[in-house]
Amino acid sequence: MRSHTIEKFRDSLLRWYGRNRRPFPWRLNPTPYRVWISEIMLQQTQSKSAMPYYKRFLERFPDITSLARAPQEEILALWSGLGYYSRARNLREAALRIVESHNGVFPSDHATVLSLPGIGRYTAGAVCSIAFHQPQPVVDGNVRRVIARLEGILSRIPEKYFWDRMAGWIPENNASAFNQAMMELGAVLCLPSQPLCPRCPVRRYCVAKSKNLQNRIPAPKQRKTAEKVVLVVLVVKWKGKILLVRRRGGFIPGEWGLPTRIVSPGHSPQETAESLNQSLFGGRLQIENNSVLRHSITRHRIAAYIFAGRATEPALEKLKKGEGIHWAGQAQLEAMLTSSLFRKAVQRCRA
Ligand code: ADE
Repeated sequence: MRSHTIEKFRDSLLRWYGRNRRPFPWRLNPTPYRVWISEIMLQQTQSKSAMPYYKRFLERFPDITSLARAPQEEILALWSGLGYYSRARNLREAALRIVESHNGVFPSDHATVLSLPGIGRYTAGAVCSIAFHQPQPVVDGNVRRVIARLEGILSRIPEKYFWDRMAGWIPENNASAFNQAMMELGAVLCLPSQPLCPRCPVRRYCVAKSKNLQNRIPAPKQRKTAEKVVLVVLVVKWKGKILLVRRRGGFIPGEWGLPTRIVSPGHSPQETAESLNQSLFGGRLQIENNSVLRHSITRHRIAAYIFAGRATEPALEKLKKGEGIHWAGQAQLEAMLTSSLFRKAVQRCRA
């Protein structure tokens, strides 16, 4: 676009955004802290779904200091259901860093923001533009699609191209609204399929629209198939409590979870549950298959065979004690069991 076209394009876009922007809580009072939390949540989650999480999170952690002081478990518990849990861990680390190295004040220098844990180019751009009104570009999936359609780009092109475009278009004095307007356009009108072109404020600048290419951009993706996993999950009760074990890695989030074992090819869930029983209780636990739960985490499609058991003294003798083993009552389950797969499994075994 030529420079006077860019100006007209911006005016149309910003007028539309001023009238149509959705009244999200993070758009009122956009302090760096509030913008940061919202942008991290919105990275893998739609605004509507993120909203209740955002409100709860800000009620519990209204500022950087309260977040830095919080135990990891509590942050993960509030994050439970949003997925991509490394985001929640990084939030805490960044809050600690801000308290330790910046007197608890969110830094405004772009390079410093970028150096914080869990903050990449997108988040740094969002915080610096939305909270500090610096002309820093942002590029997310919505922005990429809007630009690709505006310019009629059919092929895959390097990420840098989009950043350069945004950097060239962003106004010096209205970066916050401009960045959000580009993202908002992608989120509400310039949709991935069936974009709502007749309502688009910048359709007259759009190459895709003029050549009727809007449904070919973005090019349909080759879908990556999800990895299927068959899993056994044990819900073991004892005196109204449920057995949790400390988890080391794996694709199920959370530091604590129910005991699980992957069912390898050629084995049955029953055999696998018995072998888990053997490792934990010397095989002395009475277990029975409760149900099968289907659940997806990131790119894993999980079939979880839930086995319920009630611990007895002979079985408990075999269970190793201490670190890595925890009997959790209701309140602790709420706090420690962050994965919704595990929460559902416990729910199934209520009764
Ligand atoms: N998606 C993520 N962050 C956004 C923002 N600030 N405005 C519009 N859409 C967004």
